[in-house]
Amino acid sequence: MDLDKFFQDQNKKKQVKILTCGSVDDGKSTLLGRLLFDSQNIFLDQMNQAKIESEKYGTQGKEIDLALLVDGLQAEREQGITIDVAYRYFETSNCKFIVADTPGHEQYTRNMATGASNSDVAIILIDAQKGVLEQTRRHSFIVSLLGIKHIVVAINKMDLVNYNENVFETIRDEYKELISNFTFTTINFIPLSALKGDNIFSKFENTNWYKGPTLIEALEKTDVLDSSRDNKFSFPVQWVNRSSANFRGYSGTITDGKISTGELITTTSSNKQISVKNIYGPQGELSEAYSGQAITLTLSDELDISRGDIILSTKNDQIMKANQFASHLIWMDQEPMLPERNYIFRFNNSYINGKITDLVHSINVNSFEEVASKKLNLNDIAYCKVAIDKMHGISSYSNNQKLGSFVIIDPYSNKTIGVGMIDHALRRSSNISWHEMSINKKTRSELNSQKPCVVWFTGLSGSGKSTIANILEQKLHTAGKRTYLLDGDNVRHGLNKDLGFTDTDRVENIRRVAEVSKLMVDAGLITLVSFISPFKSERQMAKDLLSSDEFFEIFVSTSLEECEKRDPKGLYKKARAGELKNFTGIDSSYEEPENPDLVLDTNSTNAEELADQIINFLQVNKII
Ligand code: ADX
Repeated sequence: MDLDKFFQDQNKKKQVKILTCGSVDDGKSTLLGRLLFDSQNIFLDQMNQAKIESEKYGTQGKEIDLALLVDGLQAEREQGITIDVAYRYFETSNCKFIVADTPGHEQYTRNMATGASNSDVAIILIDAQKGVLEQTRRHSFIVSLLGIKHIVVAINKMDLVNYNENVFETIRDEYKELISNFTFTTINFIPLSALKGDNIFSKFENTNWYKGPTLIEALEKTDVLDSSRDNKFSFPVQWVNRSSANFRGYSGTITDGKISTGELITTTSSNKQISVKNIYGPQGELSEAYSGQAITLTLSDELDISRGDIILSTKNDQIMKANQFASHLIWMDQEPMLPERNYIFRFNNSYINGKITDLVHSINVNSFEEVASKKLNLNDIAYCKVAIDKMHGISSYSNNQKLGSFVIIDPYSNKTIGVGMIDHALRRSSNISWHEMSINKKTRSELNSQKPCVVWFTGLSGSGKSTIANILEQKLHTAGKRTYLLDGDNVRHGLNKDLGFTDTDRVENIRRVAEVSKLMVDAGLITLVSFISPFKSERQMAKDLLSSDEFFEIFVSTSLEECEKRDPKGLYKKARAGELKNFTGIDSSYEEPENPDLVLDTNSTNAEELADQIINFLQVNKII
């Protein structure tokens, strides 16, 4: 055998990435096992192992349970369900296949989204005995949302309905109706039996009425090339390669389109156009390179390019620079998504702070209805508006899946908590600019002869925040300082009158008062803020609006027992009696500051002395 030729042919083979989705009992693992087994991609030792395990856990009597071949995880064998994304590889003489096997459980939408990215075709499994289920609707919606253009609807377990054509047609018609609003390019409906192997690799005579392709034929025909993308070259720079004094190259992986030497490019951070000098691949110099290839580019002229910038063909008109955009979002965390909370948004190689400013609607993935909501829970899908802290080169997801998608990261745990698919940039991004004024914070502060700042009090209701803040303001006032006191109860009578005490409303409450306090600092005032501000995330957001010598966090550390004993407004009593919902410390959480600038103990010290402690603190920090 000519090994060189064998490997060359292997490299030329078309590669198709498949996503499989089905409900727990639809027979997904059996189908995968069948694909691996019939394509002879199973090793002898795996077969033997499957034989042993079939006797222990199998559902097929003396036969080998094919599902056990693919259920790689111990836990899933014991529970009989699939619980993570696993990638399987098999090939035929024409094609190589990579299969993302994702779970059918509702709570695992996250894994499905992970497995689906980059897939060329999705197999939607339907159990012929059960027909279209809620999960079928959910999976189809997510597949469409994630931009997969080709689907194969595998109507499985035909052997259990006597290969009845009517059953097949009824399911096919119901499914067609269900996806009438989706934009799939190709849809194949195939009657099959994964268990028996019917219509998978070869046509089965008991379904003579079926004239379409076998499953493998349909998968092999998947159109994985899209020549319309050739003009859409985009290349996020992963690192700037300065391997010698006179070499400056840009390395990364092409996310879309193709590039040739001599072609004109620009970047997301510059409007200058220059041409590509050299393209280097792992094997040496190239005259052109394509999507998916890892390359290093050198350019004909100097251009200020750094990690995270995106190099684009000047023919590519689909990348927009924006800091606000509308996007679909899949939420993947137990902690709900709250609008206006700060998160980290990761786009390819860039990490940018930002927030979801509007939750336009969430989507009921069973009925496809748009539903008004104030927060997102685990696995919720929604349409949102997002604002990030700086301009970034983005694309719509339908034009470019890599540049049009992002991942949301929790800044505290570093966990991935969501994924987004960009719809379009918001116009206001580029239409609003910042005006520098002649009279500014510096000139106002000089006139006031003081250094403006925010003294932020946080603590439980009744902890003593407002009492201490009030005394502090009197002392500052007497000393000739210009001040303003923003108090939770008072601000909630006006500016924040529309807000209640849900987590979502508290986030917005603090966002507004943080923005107001920033304006007050800009006005040159020493600004005292007395709000429960129960969440560390929003206190951090308030802090991030100012510089480090302008924001001081004061924790009024009175315990819940003590606050409840004092109960100045009788609210704890009401909350305990169940007459007041979402009360901080009772049925709404309070996250204590981890590194406050000052902790005030109201048990051992009276309010007057505590105010003096703050005066002293402000003197030490050269505010007064
Ligand atoms: S915050 O949590 O959003 O920062 P804020 O400081 O504005 O709260 O308002 C707290 C004040 O509202 C409390 O001091 C109390 O007087 C009143 N209040 C009414 N209902 C609640 C509640 N459910 N939880 C906490 N405070 C409440």
